[in-house]
Amino acid sequence: MLNKINFWKSSRKTVSIDERIEQVLKLPIPKHIAIIMDGNGRWAKKRALPRIAGHHEGMRIVRKITMLANRLNIDTLTLYAFSTENWKRPKHEVDYLMGLPEEFLGNFLPELIEENVKVCMIGNNNRIPEHTRRAVEKAIVETSANTGLKLNFALNYGGRAEILDAVKEISKDVKNGNLDISDINDEAFSNYLMTHFLSDPDLLIRTSGELRISNFMLWQIAYSELWFTDVLWPDFTEAHLIEAVEAYQRRSRRYGGIHSEESKK
Ligand code: IPE
Ligand code: IPE
Ligand code: MG
Repeated sequence: MLNKINFWKSSRKTVSIDERIEQVLKLPIPKHIAIIMDGNGRWAKKRALPRIAGHHEGMRIVRKITMLANRLNIDTLTLYAFSTENWKRPKHEVDYLMGLPEEFLGNFLPELIEENVKVCMIGNNNRIPEHTRRAVEKAIVETSANTGLKLNFALNYGGRAEILDAVKEISKDVKNGNLDISDINDEAFSNYLMTHFLSDPDLLIRTSGELRISNFMLWQIAYSELWFTDVLWPDFTEAHLIEAVEAYQRRSRRYGGIHSEESKK
C-alpha cells in the first residue's frame, strides 16, 4: 500500500507557477479580489520576533501578490491594511503600521508606475498621520493615468463607519431636495460608499485561520465568494493566490437563483 502511495506521489507531475497561471487564465478570472491580510503578529511570535517584524514581512508579500494580480489581469486588488478598530493596539505598533504605506510606496512606487498599477485608497483620512496621507496621495496622483491593476488600500477603513457615512450623506441629499426617497436602491446606495468607483469583490480571501469578516466591506461582499486559509499572511505565496483563484473558478455563483443549466429543464 505504502509503495502504491509513493508511486502515485512520485508519478504526479509538479506543475510550475507559470503553467498554473496559464491554466487559470483560460477560465473567468475574478474581477475584484479583496484580502484580509491577517496573521502578521502570530508569524512573528512563532519566531520570537516583535509583532512589527511580522508587519514588515507582510509588506514584502504585498508586493509579490500585487505583481501576480497584475499578471493575472485582475481589475482590482483591495488589501485590508488597517481597520478602524486597529487603533486599539499599542501606540508603537500603530505608529509602525502607519509608517508602512510610506515605506512600501517609497520602495515600490517606481515599480508600480512601471507595471501600470493604479493606486487607490478607501478609508477615513481623518486620523491618518500627515506623512502617511502625503505618501498615499503622491502615489494616487502619480499613478492616476495608469490603466492596469487597481491596487486599493483599505486604510483606517471600517465597513460600519462607511455605511453610516453613506446614510448621513443620503439623509442630507433627501433633506435638501436633491434625492427622492423612492430613488434609494442598491445602485444609488453603492454610489454613496467609498467604493463607488469599484465593482464589488468577486473573491474575498482571509489568511491566518480566523473565520470572520472583522468589519470589512460589509455591503460589498453580499455575494462575494469566500476563501479562508490557515496560512499566516507573511507565509502567503503566489501559489496560495492561484489556489484561491482555482477554487473560485470551481464555484457556481447563483445569486439566489438557480444554475443556468437547471433553468432549461
Ligand atoms: C494583520 O496581522 C495586520 C493588521 C491587522 C494590521 P495582525 O497584526 O492582526 O496579526 P495577528 O492576527 O495578531 O497574528
Ligand atoms: C483585520 O484583522 C484587519 C486587518 C487585516 C487590517 P484583525 O487582526 O484586526 O481582526 P480581528 O481582531 O482578529 O477580528
Ligand atoms: Mg489579526
